[in-house]
Amino acid sequence: MHSFPLFKNVEDYFSNLDVYSKVVKNNYMFHSEMYGILKNYIEKELSNKPFKLLDLGSGNAFFMTQVLENSKVESYTAYDLSKESLEEAKTNLDIVKCKKEFLVKDLSKEFLESPALNKYDLIWSSFALHHLSLDDKKRFFKKCFDSLEEEGCFILVDIINEKGSREEWFNVYKSGVYKNWSALTVEDKNYVCDHVYNFDYPESVSVIRDIANEAGFSKQKELFKKDLYLCIEFKR
Ligand SMILES: C[S@@+](CC[C@H](N)C(=O)[O-])C[C@H]1O[C@@H](n2cnc3c(N)ncnc32)[C@H](O)[C@@H]1O
Repeated sequence: MHSFPLFKNVEDYFSNLDVYSKVVKNNYMFHSEMYGILKNYIEKELSNKPFKLLDLGSGNAFFMTQVLENSKVESYTAYDLSKESLEEAKTNLDIVKCKKEFLVKDLSKEFLESPALNKYDLIWSSFALHHLSLDDKKRFFKKCFDSLEEEGCFILVDIINEKGSREEWFNVYKSGVYKNWSALTVEDKNYVCDHVYNFDYPESVSVIRDIANEAGFSKQKELFKKDLYLCIEFKR
């Protein structure tokens, strides 16, 4: 049975950027591969025209900065609950010259509730969707669909649960963290597992595909899948 101390809320966890930075730096969640895929997509599909990018659950945009440097990005809009992460994102993205917006907003509230006024050529969301309820995930996909230009693309990166039961999935996740994430201290590992236990509600690939299909995304392409990690592309 799980018995770590509880966090108050999800933004408290992501405000402790030290632990998450260690996870990212050691590529435990395949950030390098995921953002490599994004860079590739931009170079292949968006190298000839200025494009508008929406980043949902951006964090501190450390990798995003490297992806956007030397691209034709016209505007970058980031949503995140964590003010601290968005402050870092602002600093990181200083070298990228384009119109920028950093919105401290909840993806399950303001993002879903406001009308889709702006249209984007590319929507990217990495490791944020699993924080939403199933119902909000459905609304999230619909909102992404409505926020895309006709030829636009939504690329989702997230953790997945192919186990069915959340308890079973959590145990697999937890043993992976304790066994393989060796750059983390035991306290760091407790911290990560505590967050995951309290806030992470990943879906299976087939549920994600069904939700996307219902929202109107008829073209779907799996770009990366390893262990508990997925990257998938959605188009109209
Ligand atoms: C695991 S981090 C991922 C950050 C970044 N996209 C990356 O790939 O490293 C998840 C991010 O989603 C944000 N987040 C979680 N739930 C959210 C919500 N309901 N609304 C907005 N942001 C949220 C967190 O603050 C955090 O910065």
